[in-house]
Amino acid sequence: MITLGIETSCDETGIAIVDNGKKLSNVVSSSIHLHSQYGGVVPEIASRYHLEYIDSAIKQAIERSGKQLTDIELIAVTYGPGLCGSLLTGISYAKALGFGLSIPVLGINHLAAHIYANFLTKDDDRSLEYPFISLIVSGGHTSIVLCNSPMEHEILGQTQDDAIGEAFDKVSKIMGLGYPGGPIVEKRAYLHNGKDNIKFPRAFLNKNSLDFSFSGIKTAVLYFCKDKNLTDELINDICFAFQESVFEVVTKKAVDACLKAGIKTLCIGGGVAANKTLYNKLLKDCTEKGIKFFKPSMEFCLDNGAMVAALGEKLYIMGQRSPLDFTAEPGLGL
Ligand code: KG4
Ligand code: ZN
Repeated sequence: MITLGIETSCDETGIAIVDNGKKLSNVVSSSIHLHSQYGGVVPEIASRYHLEYIDSAIKQAIERSGKQLTDIELIAVTYGPGLCGSLLTGISYAKALGFGLSIPVLGINHLAAHIYANFLTKDDDRSLEYPFISLIVSGGHTSIVLCNSPMEHEILGQTQDDAIGEAFDKVSKIMGLGYPGGPIVEKRAYLHNGKDNIKFPRAFLNKNSLDFSFSGIKTAVLYFCKDKNLTDELINDICFAFQESVFEVVTKKAVDACLKAGIKTLCIGGGVAANKTLYNKLLKDCTEKGIKFFKPSMEFCLDNGAMVAALGEKLYIMGQRSPLDFTAEPGLGL
């Protein structure tokens, strides 16, 4: 089923064509360069950018897929969670195009799409099967989810305050490193001096809890940096110590969730899943405990239209439909 995926929940205009679970094209146009000077995403700038670029991104995605506009049989569009104006841009475009082509339009949950991105791998690597545990680590969410099917999700734990990606962004901002913080902090952590001389607290909450809290680590970094001469070496060491702290917690809780639920498969999704240190840590701990570990390829970790199209196609085949009047749901949960 040739499906057009539209993802405009935040600062990426993600457009893709997927056919039978396989990506034919995946175009991502990001407005990140417009937000970096403000230290975070400015919603109004993000939605205006989507409006300006969505048309050309769709034309490009169709061209690269080798298909025609009239070959599209389904449109899948993110309807939440995300920024209201940004979501509405994608939804309005999807509805108008769907009406013009007389094809169905399906609203997709952004978080469910991040989870489903794990199915968008190469042919030889498609052994992921339900049920599995998913660790969502993005700019707005940090959750551990039991996934029984593409439409059945049970949240086992989630952050009580900041999301892990948000913590990366804030820590980066504290040290004046720029936005988005994740990739910058990861690079600086690689450069650290190899000594474990800085230790930040680990927020495990209570022993059995699968919930998270990342606001404390941000404050710990803030106090640590206060009145210090932030040399390049010190920044590298802080980035390393910060990653060690947050990754130890998410890895332990994700593995614990699998052991508690008796589930032998763990997936990861969301922007922070692009971090190689986290990947290596999860892979090591999962392998030790006999848990199969899956991660989407890099292009499907960050926001993209392919994960939306792939999940849309699957849900449509399973019988899911969206009412004509579906609209943006900025605070949508799983
Ligand atoms: O999933 P995503 O693209 O957007 C949301 O749904 O929020 O995630 C964006 C988040 C940002 O906070 C960004 O700093 C973080 O993912 N991120 C990373 C890396 N790349 C992006 N965090 C850690 N390491 C990375 N390599
Ligand atoms: Zn996302």
